[in-house]
Amino acid sequence: MATALDPRAASRVTEFEETVFATYSRLALETGAVNLGQGFPDDPPDPLVQRALQAAVAGPQQYAPLPGVPALNEALATAIGARLGRSLDPVREVQVTVGATEGLFATMQALVDPGDEVVLLAPWYDAYPAMVTMAGGHVVGVAMREDAGAWRLDRAALAAAVTPRTKAIVITTPHNPTGAVMDEADLDAVVAAAASADAVVVSDEVYEHLSFVPFTPAASRPGAWERTLTVSSVGKSYAVTGWKVGWVTGPTELIAAVRAAHQWIPFAVATPLQHAVASILRDDLLAGGARLEEQRERYRSRRDALHEGLTAAGFAVSRADGGYFLVADARALVDEGADALALRLPREAGVVAIPMTPFTDAATRHVAEGRLRFAFCKGEDAIDEACRRLRAWRG
Ligand SMILES: Cc1ncc(COP(=O)(O)O)c(C=O)c1O
Repeated sequence: MATALDPRAASRVTEFEETVFATYSRLALETGAVNLGQGFPDDPPDPLVQRALQAAVAGPQQYAPLPGVPALNEALATAIGARLGRSLDPVREVQVTVGATEGLFATMQALVDPGDEVVLLAPWYDAYPAMVTMAGGHVVGVAMREDAGAWRLDRAALAAAVTPRTKAIVITTPHNPTGAVMDEADLDAVVAAAASADAVVVSDEVYEHLSFVPFTPAASRPGAWERTLTVSSVGKSYAVTGWKVGWVTGPTELIAAVRAAHQWIPFAVATPLQHAVASILRDDLLAGGARLEEQRERYRSRRDALHEGLTAAGFAVSRADGGYFLVADARALVDEGADALALRLPREAGVVAIPMTPFTDAATRHVAEGRLRFAFCKGEDAIDEACRRLRAWRG
């Protein structure tokens, strides 16, 4: 169980429950179950990553400049600028952050006043609501639709949810947990909805290099750049989730607002890791991205193996076009809800998956019903063993 909070703790933290990842990682340890819960890869570090980290040992070790170390800001501006077809200013339009997490936190601090509304698409990445409420904002949940096994934006529901108090619309593409990759028409609908309230689009693109279909960055759409803050990080792209180096990119004045918040959160991000990320981007992403392509293919085949195995075990599995996860509907297998099933699977089947409920609120809970999230960023052996165990459990 999580430790009780001191009675003197502020209400902004007493209302939080333990994250679902802590609960289920602990269950995995206690039961020895195969952990397809939390999304982090278990492959050994790539030689490219090891070399970059070793070189950084001999480099600068003191505080980095507020925007980021110049080598990283420049590599990011070049790579992102090429993708968007515009020239990015490495200092004024790029802010390096402590992972995408701090990028999102600083963004919410920068945008949201008490009472403002922030639209989140359910199911969502579970950190978003906490970031909105810590900034004093209100979450307005918009349920995604599951259509013929694929999750999509509900454009009409989004348009209806936007009010004059909407400060931001947060999107995730490729999406965690559904694996949906937003197409141009959906992105345009998000930009139009944001424009109708003069709100900002916050596009979380941490899985940008793990899309199995052509990927469109939100900021590349017509009219998007001026009102979009894009958040990403190195963790998923190069399988270094423990590094926590991320960035926010966008127009000068919005980045200035994010920077104003960031300067009082960490001020600066780990200098040697920033240099290591810069060298990875120069050696791979800016040199054609062979390493990214290799990883994408590896994950595509793991996604296919997990999809097939879960389907054989009786789950109805949605299509994932990107990211780390598959959503599996267990309603044809069991009568109970996803939470109860996720709690007994580790002991009964020896497999950990995450129930979808914590990724919704009361108004959007229906999208989580009977559904579990399984990670396919794990090794082939773990995926095969999990599928074998689930088939055996099902009998
Ligand atoms: C959608 C999404 N955004 C942000 C993050 C956090 O990224 P970082 O580790 O770079 O802070 C994650 C990590 O799982 C994620 O899935």
